[in-house]
Amino acid sequence: MTDAKNKTFTLTDDQTGKSYKLPVLDGAAGPSVIDVRKLYAETGHFTFDPSFTSTASCKSRLTFIDGDEGILMHRGYDIAELATKSTHMEVCYLLLYGDLPTATQLAEFTHNITYHTMVHDQMNKFFQGFRRDAHPMAVMCGVTGALSAFYHDSLDIRDPKQREISAHRLIAKIPTLAAMAMKYNMGQPFMYPRNDLTYPENFLYMCFAVPAEAYKINPVLARAMDRIMILHADHEQNASTSTVRLAGSSQANPFACIAAGIASLWGASHGGANQEVLEMLDEIGSVERIPEYIKKAKDKDDPFRLMGFGHRVYKNFDPRAQVLKQSCDEVLDELGVRDPRLKLARELERIALEDPYFVERKLFPNVDFYSGIILKAMGFPVSMFTVLFAVSRTVGWISQWKEMIEEPDLRIGRPRQLYTGAAKRPYVDIKKRG
Ligand code: CMC
Repeated sequence: MTDAKNKTFTLTDDQTGKSYKLPVLDGAAGPSVIDVRKLYAETGHFTFDPSFTSTASCKSRLTFIDGDEGILMHRGYDIAELATKSTHMEVCYLLLYGDLPTATQLAEFTHNITYHTMVHDQMNKFFQGFRRDAHPMAVMCGVTGALSAFYHDSLDIRDPKQREISAHRLIAKIPTLAAMAMKYNMGQPFMYPRNDLTYPENFLYMCFAVPAEAYKINPVLARAMDRIMILHADHEQNASTSTVRLAGSSQANPFACIAAGIASLWGASHGGANQEVLEMLDEIGSVERIPEYIKKAKDKDDPFRLMGFGHRVYKNFDPRAQVLKQSCDEVLDELGVRDPRLKLARELERIALEDPYFVERKLFPNVDFYSGIILKAMGFPVSMFTVLFAVSRTVGWISQWKEMIEEPDLRIGRPRQLYTGAAKRPYVDIKKRG
C-alpha cells in the first residue's frame, strides 16, 4: 500500500459547494481504492454499497483476482499452475504461512495436519442428535460450531500458538466431520481417519470405505479430489469469507467463525450452486427440453436461472472452471460414466456458450458447473456437494481469519445503513389502533 498522502480523489458536495480531498491507496495489483474511513467525520455522509460491488472491506495479502482477465492467484502463484503442479497440502501451507514450503516444512506441516484428523470421540454422540435425513450442511453448521466446546485449549485468539493449533485442527478435522455427516446420512458406520494416506486419499477413504471390505484408493480420483480442493481453497472476499472475517472481528473463536462461514456458503448463489446444478439437470431431464429452460433463464418474469453459469467477479472466464473441465473429462473417462445427465450438461454448456443472451452478459460455466458433475461421477450424494466446497474452503477461511486477527489495527466490523423506515411517531395505545 503506498503512502496515502501521495494521491487524492476530490469529492465535491453539490449542495454546499465544499470539496473534500480523499486519500487514494494503491495495492500491489488491481484497482486503487478511495480511502473513505474519515468521510463521515469530515462530511457527515456515509457511502452506500449494499452488495459491496465497489467496496474493499479489508487489506489482504492472500489472494488476487482480476475478474476481467480471468486471473486468480494465491500469494502470487497462478491457480492453474498450483492446480497442475502442487498439492492441496502445499497450497494450505502457502495460504496459511505466505510462501511455498521447503520439503522439511511440508513434511512437518503434513504430519501436524495428519495427527489432528481424529475428532473427540464424544462427537460421535453429537451426531446422533440429528435426524438421519438432515442436510449434511445443516449438520456441518452444528458440528463445526460444536468444536469450540471440545477444544478449549486453543480458544485464546490472542495467543499465536493457540491460533495456529486451531487452524491445524480445522484443516484436519473438517474433512473427518464431513465424511461423518455423509456416513450418518447414509446409515453407515463412521470410518476413522487413516494416517498412512494423503489428505485427499484419506477423505475418499472416510467417505467411501466400509468396515466389511478392503478399500482400494483410485489414484485418478484422489488426484481429482486434490485438484478440486486446490481450486476451491480460497477466493478473496466472497460472501462466506467476509462472514468469517466479520464474525472474527468481534473476537469470536475460530471454530464459531468457520461455522458462520459454512452457513453463508450454503446458499444457492454461493456454494449451494453445485447441488443446484445437478437438481437443475434432473429437472430438465432430456436434451430436447434444453431450449425450454434456456427460454426460462432469459425470461425476466421467471426467477429461474441457469445454475452453474455466471459469476459476480469473473466477467470473462472462470480460471478454476477451465482446469476443472479437464479433470472432469479425466474422471469421466476413468470411471467410464454413462450418466445421461452428463450428456445433458455438455449440451447445455455448448448451447449457452453460443447463445447471444449468455455471450453478451458474459455468463459462462463457473467452477460449480463442473465440480457438480465430477462429484456426482465419483459417487458423492448431491447433498454432499456443498459440504465438499466447505472442506476445501476451510483453509482459505482460516487463513483470512488469521491474517485479520494479526492486523495491529483490528476493530470490530460495523457496517452503517441508509434508514428507510418510518419517521418518529408517538406510541398508540392498543385500544385506539385499527
Ligand atoms: N442464468 C440466467 N441469467 C443470468 C444468470 C444465470 N445463471 N446469472 C446472471 N444472469 C443475468 C441476470 O439476469 C442479469 O441480466 P440483466 O442484465 O438482463 O438484468 C445479468 O445476467 C447480470 O446478473 P446479476 O444478477 O447482476 O449478476 P450478479 O453478479 O449479481 O450474480 C451470480 C452472480 C453468480 C449470483 C449469478 O450469475 C447467478 O445467480 N448464477 C447462478 C448461481 C451460480 O452458479 N452460483 C455460483 C457462483 S460460482 C461459486 C462461488 O464463487 O460461490
